[in-house]
Amino acid sequence: MAVDTRVRPQKARSAARAGSSSVALKIFMATTGILLVLFLYVHMAGNLKIFFGATPFDHYAHWLRTIGEPLLPQQWYLWIQRTVLTVAVIGHIAAATILARRARRARPVRYAHRPKVQGSYAARTMRWGGVIILLFVVYHILDLTTGTLNPVGSPGHPYANVVADFAPHRWYVTLFYALAVVAVGAHLRHGIFSAARTLGQRGARGEHVARVTALVLSIVLVAGFLSVPFAVITGLVN
Ligand code: HEM
Repeated sequence: MAVDTRVRPQKARSAARAGSSSVALKIFMATTGILLVLFLYVHMAGNLKIFFGATPFDHYAHWLRTIGEPLLPQQWYLWIQRTVLTVAVIGHIAAATILARRARRARPVRYAHRPKVQGSYAARTMRWGGVIILLFVVYHILDLTTGTLNPVGSPGHPYANVVADFAPHRWYVTLFYALAVVAVGAHLRHGIFSAARTLGQRGARGEHVARVTALVLSIVLVAGFLSVPFAVITGLVN
């Protein structure tokens, strides 16, 4: 039977192009992910200042708005951080969507019954975890940055806002925060592991190191974030 071989080189070329652009997208995802993790670690460490009392905590928030004054304009640092974070989040989601579509298209036949393999489970968890985190961030900004949804919502007094937020009778807010922070931890655990693999940690030993590092970094972050609502609800911070 005669086979038309003319289309093959073109198909091979476009497959190679898609392959190398997928690698570029994975590197982009890893880089934006690392940037977001760095922000989360700095944010978590800043939150721990609440254990030093209202004045140091509120002063820290004030300092974030006045770094470099009067030479530099008010809030310049926060606005640069907000811009970089927004671009990183949008880029991270866009790259994840393109890669997921490519993976679906590359699958020759749709599974009749999706097998519960680790890969698809992790991918689904990452997708839904990502959506929960995004919804949480929108609520969180309206709660503790603009104060719109906060019972106190006092500008310049984040200590009072946080204490009011996690008051025992508002246990449902604390629960929502706790679930979101655990979702961040789970997302991070898989994300750090994938990023380490993309950036070259392969082989049994490399994968083991990446897995343990991802687990430790996620647990430390989750524990640090959760310590604040836990301290308020138990009366340690009031
Ligand atoms: C229990 C955990 C958390 C507490 C107590 C907390 C507390 C706060 C507070 C007090 C602010 C306002 C800071 C200020 O105005 O100076 C803030 C802002 C913010 N937080 Fe959190 N946070 C928590 C978890 C998170 C998580 C898990 C994320 C991300 C997934 C996050 C992302 C942000 C963002 C994006 C802002 C806005 C920063 C800005 O104004 O540009 N926070 N948080």
